[in-house]
Amino acid sequence: MHADKWAIKAKQAGYKTRAVYKLEEILLKTNTLHNTDKILDIGSAPGGWSHFLKLKMPKSEIFAIDILDMEDISGVNFFQKSIESIDEIPEIKCLKGKFNLVISDIAPNITGINTVDIENIYELNILTLKAAHTYIDKNNGKFIIKTFQNSMFKRLRKEMDTLFKTVQTFKPAASKKQSAEIYLYGAQKR
Ligand SMILES: C[S@@+](CC[C@H](N)C(=O)[O-])C[C@H]1O[C@@H](n2cnc3c(N)ncnc32)[C@H](O)[C@@H]1O
Repeated sequence: MHADKWAIKAKQAGYKTRAVYKLEEILLKTNTLHNTDKILDIGSAPGGWSHFLKLKMPKSEIFAIDILDMEDISGVNFFQKSIESIDEIPEIKCLKGKFNLVISDIAPNITGINTVDIENIYELNILTLKAAHTYIDKNNGKFIIKTFQNSMFKRLRKEMDTLFKTVQTFKPAASKKQSAEIYLYGAQKR
């Protein structure tokens, strides 16, 4: 499908962003689009993924965090906080080890200096991965993180391998070919 067709499709479906189709493809391929009652959305603003997940799984309890503010989405518990401070949110902290699905679309501000940007992405991804690992349910928790194909990507994947028994890489059809974005999926928490 042509890139713009995803945007038209999203608009017609009432979704906030075409990026929901990237998430949906991974959820479908990993059999995750059901039986997911507790979801944590990291780097959630402006709310496209949370909104989509609430529509798809209305019974799920969704918690979302971002450093930026996010408009209210019915049924989504949003906290304006950095991932670094996630443990300071009592409503989320008390659910440690209970999330069936943690998703991250987190992305740092780009400086334009390639080496700095690559380092910043890696550091933020590692922070997110470690936090996600502690919040995920040992029995059935799954983790999906958007990252970028760069010189640190293999290192990030190796870190995923140390925390999850199953790790897969996805480049969804809705992700533009020329974009460096790529997704990692982790399941079976070690
Ligand atoms: C690509 S956007 C997320 C889009 C979102 N998934 C959606 O569907 O609407 C990336 C987000 O990561 C957030 N972010 C960057 N650094 C963060 C941090 N340290 N903690 C939490 N969120 C952060 C940014 O503020 C931004 O809103």
